[in-house]
Amino acid sequence: MIKSNYIKSLLATAKKDVKTIVLPEGEDKRVLEAAHIVATEGAAKIIILGNVAEIKAYFAEKGWALDGIELIKPEESPNLPAYTELLYELRKEKGLSHEDAEKLALNYNYFGTLMIKSGHADGMVSGANHSTADTVRPALQIIKSAKKGRSASSFFIMLSNNVPYIFTDCGIIINPTDKELADIALDAAETALHFGIEPKVAMLSFSTKGSGKGDEVEKVKRATQMAQEALQSDEYKNLGIEIDGELQADAALDTVVAAKKAPNSTVAGHARVLVFPNLEAGNICYKMLQRLGGCEAYGPILQGLNAPVNDLSRGCFAEDIVGAVAITCLQATK
Ligand SMILES: CC(C)(COP(=O)(O)OP(=O)(O)OC[C@H]1O[C@@H](n2cnc3c(N)ncnc32)[C@H](O)[C@@H]1OP(=O)(O)O)[C@@H](O)C(=O)NCCC(=O)NCCS
Repeated sequence: MIKSNYIKSLLATAKKDVKTIVLPEGEDKRVLEAAHIVATEGAAKIIILGNVAEIKAYFAEKGWALDGIELIKPEESPNLPAYTELLYELRKEKGLSHEDAEKLALNYNYFGTLMIKSGHADGMVSGANHSTADTVRPALQIIKSAKKGRSASSFFIMLSNNVPYIFTDCGIIINPTDKELADIALDAAETALHFGIEPKVAMLSFSTKGSGKGDEVEKVKRATQMAQEALQSDEYKNLGIEIDGELQADAALDTVVAAKKAPNSTVAGHARVLVFPNLEAGNICYKMLQRLGGCEAYGPILQGLNAPVNDLSRGCFAEDIVGAVAITCLQATK
């Protein structure tokens, strides 16, 4: 049973345009339970990669139907040769040999990613048993960034008293440059719009409008300026996005503090998208809020890719996987 009302609402939205999501970790019972829940809800078609006989036996033991679920053992898939060729063609200029492509296509994260690239799935959720790097690397290599010259990054949907916020980048880019930080802010603003969250974006720092000094502050100031300039372009100008910085977290979120520290800002006090200056700050902050602050955290969700591939925490529960699948479905409706 799904406890989170937010996840329930995402599943209801996903049902309106059913997508196909591949789950490469069929050996994990949490993944199988999540697949069962999503398929029973009719929120997505699910493809599970793994040992077909073992998965069937587990579903039978639980009394779960396999309706809406396809099981594939990559080693026996008739598509394996085509996926291998595709991988080889895409990566040969990067030095991948045919022999290595044959081995790599059998890695389930690569196999799942190649399914998306071939149009056989709309998105993938993995990472219950893999590191972030192993989960997202195939996507970065094969699916690639949607916008030329722009890095993919990641976000979390954080629920505080059922109010959703976007936190970014807490998962991918370790130490973003000013340009990367500006791009993260712009991508996160679009993500917010896609998920019905007001695109008021705060560029976070330990300084508010010049109260602190240092290279770190200067980087956030430059990134803010770059992002604000981008908002004037045809691509962004009519989307209602507002970006401001540099802001401390209290000035970004609290109207009383905002009135004192950044009285002229329309974002301060009302921010719903929080852009962290680096991965350390973002990752530590989201985990603290999740463990000590009573927030629900969903992510890391990749943004800026040509198709959605999303990571799970290895400590995740089946419900977290359901949430990640629902979010992936919504991203695939872009
Ligand atoms: C995401 C990450 C795994 C990529 O690392 P990597 O695989 O070693 O990256 P590489 O530099 O070898 O690049 C591999 C490919 O991905 C591409 N790539 C790397 N980062 C990218 C990004 N942010 N956006 C788009 N493409 C990216 C590279 O261009 C390269 O492509 P190519 O082989 O076609 O030239 C790395 O940034 C990382 O480890 N981030 C932190 C993850 C983490 O620990 N998070 C905390 C837990 S949530």
